Amino acid sequence: MNRDIWVAPSVLSANFTRMEQEVRSIQTAGADLAHLDVMDGVFVPNITFGIKMVADIRKITDMPLDAHLMIVHPERYVEQFAKAGADYITVHYEACEENLIPTLQKIKACGVKAGAVINPDTPVEKIANAIECCDMVLLMSVFPGFGGQSFIESVLPKVEETKKLIMQTGKDIRLEIDGGITPANAGRVISAGADVLVAGSAVFGAPDRIEAIRLIRNAK
Ligand code: DX5
Ligand code: ZN
Repeated sequence: MNRDIWVAPSVLSANFTRMEQEVRSIQTAGADLAHLDVMDGVFVPNITFGIKMVADIRKITDMPLDAHLMIVHPERYVEQFAKAGADYITVHYEACEENLIPTLQKIKACGVKAGAVINPDTPVEKIANAIECCDMVLLMSVFPGFGGQSFIESVLPKVEETKKLIMQTGKDIRLEIDGGITPANAGRVISAGADVLVAGSAVFGAPDRIEAIRLIRNAK
């Protein structure tokens, strides 16, 4: 199945004192989603922002908002992120474990698209039975917590494996990849089956954000 490639710049690499201009700049540059990295300092060793930032960004853009929750017990906050205006909420298998499917169902019950995320060292089989409950599956290609890390090549076979499982469901489920994506490696992740590419430093750090998004989207 040939499908549109979506580029989701991560505002983790934006200047937080200028968030409105930063969000507008990626929208103007052709971003498909705004990727919002929520970190609690417990699930990951970094703290970013929470519900209010999502709600404030919602007020200034009609771009779909992709909230990547790197927090413990994400099920406690699903309703609040939904109410804040997230279009996608993705939760980590490592934070939910046996509670993953109920958490995905809770997200969907809020009228929001639901995604399961796994870290680079978590096997795809851990989420295999949850895939059909997902609107999106997110594979981390760095260990979560910080922008600007290098892409972990060994995640590529997991992209292929996940794509096969998605195809077997026959459902319209997006496959997102997050961490270290650049114009130089985007072609390989797209060939492996990813169709949503998160990029923080490669977009916000680029001299020309329009060009950076174009290069990632069209990479071969
Ligand atoms: C890492 C975050 C990523 C990060 C990507 O924990 O989930 O979304 O912002 O940043 P880059 O593209 O710089 O690796
Ligand atoms: Zn992320």
